[in-house]
Amino acid sequence: MIHNLSSVRTQSPYLPFGDRQDAPFYGRDILSVKQFNRGDLEMIFGVAREMKEMVRRVGSFDLLKGKILANLFYEPSTRTSSSFTAAMERLGGSVIRINEVHYSSVSKGESLPDTVRTLEAYSDVIVLRHPEAGSAELAARYARKPVINAGDGIGEHPTQALLDLFTICEELGDPKGLTVTMLGDLKYGRTVHSLARLLTLYDVRLNYVSPEILRMPAEVMDEVAEKGISQREYTDLEPVLAETDVLYVTRVQKERFASEAEYDQVKGLYVIDSQTMARAKEDMILMHPLPRITEIAMEVDDDPRAAYFRQMEYGLYIRMALLAMVLGKA
Ligand code: CP
Repeated sequence: MIHNLSSVRTQSPYLPFGDRQDAPFYGRDILSVKQFNRGDLEMIFGVAREMKEMVRRVGSFDLLKGKILANLFYEPSTRTSSSFTAAMERLGGSVIRINEVHYSSVSKGESLPDTVRTLEAYSDVIVLRHPEAGSAELAARYARKPVINAGDGIGEHPTQALLDLFTICEELGDPKGLTVTMLGDLKYGRTVHSLARLLTLYDVRLNYVSPEILRMPAEVMDEVAEKGISQREYTDLEPVLAETDVLYVTRVQKERFASEAEYDQVKGLYVIDSQTMARAKEDMILMHPLPRITEIAMEVDDDPRAAYFRQMEYGLYIRMALLAMVLGKA
């Protein structure tokens, strides 16, 4: 359950000398996509494009020299963890990596607030992935330094949604008028919760394709409905495939099921293969937050519409932009 963000401070009281304190997002937490408006997104995407260009031209540069990121991951991650690390290092900063909390004092029973208070003593910004929804907000209550939510259980994954939307904008231009179809595990897939919320800032149509037991949560659908965005639910992709501009596929999140038997009922239910792509629009893009298991066949990877590896790379530029912005350097 996501807590009400209105109770969370968005401006850190910690303001070190030498930072641009008038910079947008300076000292702010990134906890939920609900905190962004269209202007914010344009600003973040503008900085991300500059980051992309700088990486292309010089690889690394010293914008965040002397700054330290604490990368605190209580759940497994390849992309989010390594792209935040790469983002910080490409900006000249350094990283405290806690990817295996079993080797930290968490294994001795240390609480999240105490762990966060410890890490902020050694760093300038904390990136947190945690299995419980609301954990990033909890951490932000105790931290004076910015906290960035890198996925909180089945709650949100705001930096993923930002990179997802950035991918759509870079590949297809203005999202206005697009039909976005989300397919797979819409119940436990936090990336689709965040992306659906973020897309309400645009005039899009949303389709949700999932088995009955993995439907998009009512809480998310209610929020989308309040914004007047069209949304329809299906159990089969076929009725909406031909009209889809963005097909966003998600993995069935085995680790969130109460039992293996329940997971077995729905695993492997949807597979996007060359035959599916043959019935899709010529300019559709196929996205996936990754990791994928069997839901997209590898034969699709060479199709130019398969955007998931490009999507992953866009994540580096978005995370470089966010780190530079919350640290007052962009
Ligand atoms: N998309 C994503 O969050 O991937 P990781 O779990 O590898 O970080």
